Amino acid sequence: MTALNAIAHTNQRLTGAIRRGVRIAGCGSALPTGTLTNADLATIVQTSDEWIQQRTGIRERRVCDWSKGESNLTLCTDALARALADAGMKAADLDLIICGTITQDMRCPSTACLVAARLGAGTTAAWDLGAACCGFVYSLNVAHDLIKIGTHRAIGVIGADTVSSLIDYSNRNVCILFGDAAGAVVLTGTDDAAKGLIAQVNKADGAGWPDLYMPGVDSEIPETADRGVHRVGCLQMNGREVYKFAVGTFQELIAETLQKAGMTADQIDMFVCHQSNARILEAARERFGIPQDKLYVNIDRIGNTSAGSVPLCFDELVKAGRIKPGMVVMFLAFGAGVTWSSSLWQI
Ligand code: UT7
Repeated sequence: MTALNAIAHTNQRLTGAIRRGVRIAGCGSALPTGTLTNADLATIVQTSDEWIQQRTGIRERRVCDWSKGESNLTLCTDALARALADAGMKAADLDLIICGTITQDMRCPSTACLVAARLGAGTTAAWDLGAACCGFVYSLNVAHDLIKIGTHRAIGVIGADTVSSLIDYSNRNVCILFGDAAGAVVLTGTDDAAKGLIAQVNKADGAGWPDLYMPGVDSEIPETADRGVHRVGCLQMNGREVYKFAVGTFQELIAETLQKAGMTADQIDMFVCHQSNARILEAARERFGIPQDKLYVNIDRIGNTSAGSVPLCFDELVKAGRIKPGMVVMFLAFGAGVTWSSSLWQI
């Protein structure tokens, strides 16, 4: 083949792929068996059920029972296995697995590689993507585009975090918020070109890292930080600053995504949002006049599960029959980095 022929061949393949759509062929999720209620936390730190519910909307969160062998890896594996079963596919049918997580059981190799091995995916490519609470939405956008340009046919996308493994349970600012969960989807190409992404936004501002971070070594703790609170291996959060960032950025993210799509909020059938704090979600709902049944909230019984929250919400909505083919769905997340990301789909 001459160089010109090769270019023509590639162009033909890409044009053909771009005319195709991308669909979510299946979804699944996994929750650990342990439950940590506000009353449980009130026996560990000075807090109350009333304070936590009022400030966050959380009643309880699900946490791994490590003694039963539950972990980030088992949740990720179960979530993707269920998504594959839902899609009627086998792990070996995938040509890539992306796992959005920051709480790997083992730092090396990637969780995606271990999931691939457990599910018998053979030589399917696999990597982790670290973007904290945005891990799933970033990964979903990357996976969509890889299928859209025609380099991949089927991709398993996992979002999962076991934040309980990073929590100092004497720090009441942080321990009240977080829990553990995993969710997954399987993306494939489709002849229906209308299906797939309508718009996406992926952003980060690394200067904001000190407001939400986990020091790996002592020298990473800022000089000004209280060393009684900031401890190596434990998640640190300046709640007030993150709250201010989240309220503003979340609303701007919705506005920018709608503007890119040339759509208005009332054209969106469902908002599937990172469950950070019920008050942050409520503020966005009010600003855009979104009816309560179109912005899903499960933080009351699940807590904030970082990258696990968006795919878990999606799976719960699909299983409840509240998301169906043909609907327009906006996925939204923001978190440590700081990062923020959206993915607007024709399902
Ligand atoms: O997914 C990652 C993104 N993370 C987030 O979105 C979290 C964003 N931030 C928040 O959700 C909120 O900032 C929190 C829920 C973490 C805290 O709520 P807040 O209304 O911002 O409380 P605050 O930090 O301003 O603290 C108010 C008071 C303080 O006491 P003083 O200084 O007024 O006497 C705190 O010491 O509440 C106290 N406080 C608590 N009291 C009872 C802090 N934590 C607790 C607690 N129980 N757990």
